[in-house]
Amino acid sequence: MTSSFSNRMQHTDWIEPHSRAWYEQLAGEYGEYAYPWKSEFDEPTAETMFGQRLEARIGEHTRLLDVGCGHGDFLHRWAGHAMEAVGIDVVEPFIATANRRRLQPSHRFLTVDVNEGLPFEDGYFDMVSSKKGPWLYRKSGGEGRRVIKPGGTVLHLMHGGTDGGLRALFPDLYTPVPPFDKQRSLQHVAKQLELAESGLTDMEIEVVEEVEYLSRPIDVLIKKYFGQSRALREQVWRERLAGVEEVFHKHATARGLQVTNVYYIVTGRVPF
Ligand SMILES: C[S@@+](CC[C@H](N)C(=O)[O-])C[C@H]1O[C@@H](n2cnc3c(N)ncnc32)[C@H](O)[C@@H]1O
Repeated sequence: MTSSFSNRMQHTDWIEPHSRAWYEQLAGEYGEYAYPWKSEFDEPTAETMFGQRLEARIGEHTRLLDVGCGHGDFLHRWAGHAMEAVGIDVVEPFIATANRRRLQPSHRFLTVDVNEGLPFEDGYFDMVSSKKGPWLYRKSGGEGRRVIKPGGTVLHLMHGGTDGGLRALFPDLYTPVPPFDKQRSLQHVAKQLELAESGLTDMEIEVVEEVEYLSRPIDVLIKKYFGQSRALREQVWRERLAGVEEVFHKHATARGLQVTNVYYIVTGRVPF
């Protein structure tokens, strides 16, 4: 094995985060999509705020679709508030984990690759939400819009990167980026999601700067190497943990090492 740091991205064992292979590796190791590092947060976290946005829109007559539901934790939490709740994900072992929990007849999980279309009738759902899953409202797509009834809601949580000083402290782990600029990043996200061509109306993007405290030095590495193979992680721990410990102890507060995660909460509606 070559050094895991000098050319990390070219390392033969490196799996591109958020690729199909990366999700399959996570599913094989844990059976779920859950962060394995230890940390605490300032409230409200992005996920708390996303839950609040969903709670404000869900009702007993709502048919809800969760796109890229992972192992279903989020949908399990909200399914009881809706008339019907469906979670879809392309990774079969995540769906198997979701289906092992007790389900109501109105509550189901299906293995679906959204790139191959959605197995639902036109206008079936009142709300389509996605917590960090695929965005279905591009100019060339339309499947997301198709399955939502006129006036129905789109709710999406998108991760926009981690920094808050972390990148400067660990330049050999993270590529440095310019300081966060809210206006520029809003424009970037609107372009990236092709919002102007999405066919949606009443679009809003909320920027959430979530503060997280990584509990231990090893959590810096666990966060960075989330989804990588055990062999690569073990090599990295051997090579780098001592160096990370030194920086961590110099900069950590009593709650841990403070980092900032940027998220975007995107809301919109299908026009009548
Ligand atoms: C970042 S994870 C989020 C999982 C879950 N929503 C959560 O918040 O814990 C993104 C999810 O989208 C799923 N996904 C990615 N591409 C997909 C596709 N083409 N069709 C369906 N699901 C997909 C992945 O398998 C993964 O479970």
